[in-house]
Amino acid sequence: MNIGMSRVFSLADGWAESRHSVPAEHPAAGVTPVHEHPDATWADDGPTRGVEAEVEDGAVLSFPQLAFRFSDKERAFLDEHWADPKAKNISVRWPAGELRGAAGDPARHAELRALIVRYAEYSESLALRLFPHYRGRLRRGNSSFRPIDVAGRETSWRKDDTRLHVDAFPSNPMQGTRLLRVFSNVNPNGQPRHWRIGEPFAAHARRYLASYTRPLPGSAWLMHRLGLTKRRRTEYDHVMLQLHDHAKADIEFQRKSPQAEAFFAPGTTWVVYSDQVPHAAMGGQFMMEQTFYLDVEDLQRPETSPLRTLERLLHRPLK
Ligand code: SIN
Ligand code: FE
Repeated sequence: MNIGMSRVFSLADGWAESRHSVPAEHPAAGVTPVHEHPDATWADDGPTRGVEAEVEDGAVLSFPQLAFRFSDKERAFLDEHWADPKAKNISVRWPAGELRGAAGDPARHAELRALIVRYAEYSESLALRLFPHYRGRLRRGNSSFRPIDVAGRETSWRKDDTRLHVDAFPSNPMQGTRLLRVFSNVNPNGQPRHWRIGEPFAAHARRYLASYTRPLPGSAWLMHRLGLTKRRRTEYDHVMLQLHDHAKADIEFQRKSPQAEAFFAPGTTWVVYSDQVPHAAMGGQFMMEQTFYLDVEDLQRPETSPLRTLERLLHRPLK
């Protein structure tokens, strides 16, 4: 189902003013669509299944009736003081399952961890129902609870997630592996998670490939050797980091590229390939997030991946 939840930016508008534009009847041309689904359960009996093509084509799948519920006792965690001020998120790292980034009363950390682990399990069960093709292939990445208000996050332009970007990390090269994310807004005060969503990946890549510069020979080996990257940065990672940085540094692009606003109300869960869909978090507080990894070959249609798209555009392998 294609819905008109997006608010459209006029090309002539400035950024701030256009946040208050009227809702569009149809998603803006050239903008990633948000597809709404009616599921109200995380378990296997929900109605939506076999929608690999939708998410691989770069849509955002939104479930406005799929809430992640906190128990009465867990509601005490809806307070930013549970996050270590130095960390953005409270997370559980796999495979060991240790809790990171938590502050506050250590006696309650086991309970906080259990809440995040429950989210990991629910999202996994949802993802495997939505995408049965990924069964046995999807790998669990970090699980997080994000209690910090987006509006209050001060940071450098490169880390500024209020600017449209595709996800790519300097120290954690993906080597082509996909980043599938399941988000859920758990805000108790009615506040939506406010995103901007940008253009399809191929159009986004074409915008910056003309100014693309290749990595220096030996640099990937050296960065890995010095411990600056967790594994070798492939040319794929190098291109993705340039897309990420060039987009965030490009004020014209931020203001005027095709984009739409999405407001994910509390109780909404949404699923997206965040390495493919340009996105920006403009507002909101209290969100759950689960990352999954998937090898390109394990997609239903590997040709839709950023890796294969970039290889087509550059006419060579990027391994
Ligand atoms: C991001 O992945 O860029 C941030 C998403 C969010 O905080 O809503
Ligand atoms: Fe991001």
